[in-house]
Amino acid sequence: MNLYDRIPNNVNLSEDKKLQRALEKWLPNYLDWWREMGPEGFQEKDVWLRTAIDVGSEGWAHFDYVKMPDYRWGIFLEPAQPDAVVGFGDNYGRPAYQEVPGEFRNALRRIIVTQGDTEPASVEQQRQLGKTCPSLYDLRNLFQVNVEEGRHLWAMVYLLHGYFGRDGRDEADDLLARRSGNADKPRILEAFNQPCDDWLNFFAFTMFTDRDGKYQLSALAESGFEPLARTCRFMLTEEAHHMFVGDTGLGRVVRRTAQLMKEGDVRELGGIPLDIIQKYINFWFSYSLDLFGGEISSNSADFFAAGLKGRYKEQDQYTEHTAANEIFNMSVVEDGQLKTREVPLRNALNEVLRTEYVKDCEKGLARWNKVLADEGRRERLFLPHPRFHRHVGEYAGHSFDIEGNLISKEEFERRKTEWLPTIEDREYVRSLMHPVYEIGKIANWIAPPAAGIKGKPFDFEYVRL
Ligand SMILES: [Fe+2]
Ligand SMILES: [Fe+2]
Repeated sequence: MNLYDRIPNNVNLSEDKKLQRALEKWLPNYLDWWREMGPEGFQEKDVWLRTAIDVGSEGWAHFDYVKMPDYRWGIFLEPAQPDAVVGFGDNYGRPAYQEVPGEFRNALRRIIVTQGDTEPASVEQQRQLGKTCPSLYDLRNLFQVNVEEGRHLWAMVYLLHGYFGRDGRDEADDLLARRSGNADKPRILEAFNQPCDDWLNFFAFTMFTDRDGKYQLSALAESGFEPLARTCRFMLTEEAHHMFVGDTGLGRVVRRTAQLMKEGDVRELGGIPLDIIQKYINFWFSYSLDLFGGEISSNSADFFAAGLKGRYKEQDQYTEHTAANEIFNMSVVEDGQLKTREVPLRNALNEVLRTEYVKDCEKGLARWNKVLADEGRRERLFLPHPRFHRHVGEYAGHSFDIEGNLISKEEFERRKTEWLPTIEDREYVRSLMHPVYEIGKIANWIAPPAAGIKGKPFDFEYVRL
């Protein structure tokens, strides 16, 4: 472990001078990006952060006060497994790739760049949120998510610099050049160009969009390209906290809303009505579904055949790892009607991964509905049908209601304010967003967490302002 290197790492960076130099050249550009696009207004504050100093159980969960620019952006890979093999696809059982196989070079670079692009994008989307945090606990969680997304960018840039030569270095530079929501140089995926400018958006984003990240990283953690698999395995340990922030954050909003419903009109009492919460769920769930790609996809087939991107828990969940000669029944729109089409399984793997994701999201909904039940309410929140409000894949270009029924474009336009946040809804939510910076205090529209972070109480000074 090279604790005192400029770039903390467990990949023996000091022994690879060329790579070390390339990364050291990239580092100041990264810091410029962080100062320009990272959390605005809090760069010099001490934040009680978890900082990975190693991948072992002690090392990755090390807590201390850190100024965000001094966070240990580093490169941490899970240890290599001796005799690792390609775990699926046409090369199943052959030795895992330790270098990029020439024929898969473009596909792999594209996978890594697309994943890498999401990491700085979310930091950019969230950069104003510190100014309206509901508590110091939440402020700290926001910054924890932000610095870890920054480190995830490092993880992908390490792969680009280390394994893709000149074009990898160019791609790494481009990752710092694109900007979320910028019309001229947008981020690659649409969910990462959507504004995330209030805390209800933030919790829905970390619940649904970070959870897409979990499934993409899980599929890449199975990769036959070992450096990618080892990188993603470690990123997943950090990603769990991001989803915790979203899941419990929304749960706390739901709890507070349910409490206010017993007292009277939620709006008059300064809370967020359930129907607005539902609309935010509909918005972020549907955009996050798009991130899995088209329902029928030759890319997904190619990536799987090449052993680059597996299924969720490929090794634990499946006994047959070629996925060849199998059929998937997909519902598609044909002649203005929903019909079932038989698709080769390999071409349906985006949909297979998306289905796993939906199951996981449903568990979150069950937790929030339990909060409603515990508070004595009969109302329930739900996930929209996966066909609803899609911009990518088989259902893009058609209109569906919230239950997945095919409807006309006119009907969708007429009814969309029932299902998706309106400008008024967004303005109302924003009107509630006033910062609460006092230790142990919390905004009126959200309940406090059940516990603090790492054994600290809620009224701990998580950020020194
Ligand atoms: Fe990430
Ligand atoms: Fe994340």
